[in-house]
Amino acid sequence: MTEADLDAVAAAEARIHPFPWTRGNFADSLAAGHGAWLARAEGRMIGYAIMMQVLDEAHLLNISVLPELQRTGRGSALLIRLFDLGRMQAATRMLLEVRPGNISGRAFYQRHGFEEIGRRRDYYPAHEGREDAIVMARGL
Ligand SMILES: CC(C)(COP(=O)(O)OP(=O)(O)OC[C@H]1O[C@@H](n2cnc3c(N)ncnc32)[C@H](O)[C@@H]1OP(=O)(O)O)[C@@H](O)C(=O)NCCC(=O)NCCS
Repeated sequence: MTEADLDAVAAAEARIHPFPWTRGNFADSLAAGHGAWLARAEGRMIGYAIMMQVLDEAHLLNISVLPELQRTGRGSALLIRLFDLGRMQAATRMLLEVRPGNISGRAFYQRHGFEEIGRRRDYYPAHEGREDAIVMARGL
């Protein structure tokens, strides 16, 4: 993902997530040097991911697939590439946060070997107040 992709990424994000990252959030991630990738099929963007690595820990900040292509294996293909990219940079563990109400996201991560390791209180904005995050992790 580069600066040139950000309009398309932000537009996709707004369709995918009820509380989307803004274009500025993605720009901040690029500026901070986070790993940022697009998944493409037949020349068109079908998903993307942002991952921040600190020492041996890879922190998955965002993984998203276009709504019309979800549940067709694209997210799994992207996540497996992220496992490899983390390992190549000597990560031994991947961590992420997910909303308790994101049933499909939680099922996706469980399917890929993530386990709940804790909660962060009031982590996310919600329709009313704030919502906790479930923290999940798996070895790489
Ligand atoms: C979560 C997400 C990245 C998964 O990508 P995907 O391409 O839809 O997932 P896959 O087709 O690779 O699914 C792999 C497995 O995950 C589980 N899964 C995925 N979507 C699911 C759903 N809606 N309900 C239940 N299980 C689901 C299933 O076990 C599935 O395997 P199966 O289809 O053989 O049963 C994608 O659905 C998405 O972008 N969701 C919205 C954004 C989001 O919630 N991101 C994660 C939190 S930031």
